[in-house]
Amino acid sequence: MSKIDIDELIAPVLAYLPNRTPEAWVDAALEHQETILIDHATNELKAAQQAMTLMARNPLNMDIQNKMSRLAREELVHYEQVLKIIKKRRIKFRTMKASGYAYNMAQHIRSDNKGKLTDNLIIGSIIEARSCERFHKIAPSLDEELQKFYISLLKSESRHFKDYLALAQKYTDEDIQPRVEFFLSVEDKSILEPDPLMRLHSGMPTADLRV
Ligand SMILES: [Fe+2]
Ligand SMILES: [Fe+2]
Repeated sequence: MSKIDIDELIAPVLAYLPNRTPEAWVDAALEHQETILIDHATNELKAAQQAMTLMARNPLNMDIQNKMSRLAREELVHYEQVLKIIKKRRIKFRTMKASGYAYNMAQHIRSDNKGKLTDNLIIGSIIEARSCERFHKIAPSLDEELQKFYISLLKSESRHFKDYLALAQKYTDEDIQPRVEFFLSVEDKSILEPDPLMRLHSGMPTADLRV
């Protein structure tokens, strides 16, 4: 992918997010690449699961069926790709405590059906955008194989972010902007506040960082 293509893919993502990943996170992630790869694999699986949950909850919404089916398939391919890299590098796979990132937003999801769908779709767009921003940010510091892989993910992840956001606006009568801004402000805090756990979506690494 050329630099122009990459810049074009990342521009709307950077315009959407409230901040950039701090350099301190990049430094810590480079030091703990095994943790990041395992957490990345887990996140790809969770992304596929979340898409299928939305499909199951909205069986009559054909846009959700089509967009989320494709998205789930793509996330599972990413999952397999990360697993392959993990295996090739002889990294021992393990289960890990999830970062608080998604939960911090999810705890504010409204309970009525319509509000729940809108909020879930907005959160989906934010998680996809942040993943995209982090892959783009860390890629230049990685070895050739990982760099190539992370850049290859930008295409689908930037589309996922847009798909989620478009679905959020399409399936509600409310103006989603205030809700988007609310969840972005929660996200902003998660990224910039001290976080003792090193994960793909974690905040500012603390001195007593756990991996
Ligand atoms: Fe993915
Ligand atoms: Fe994605």
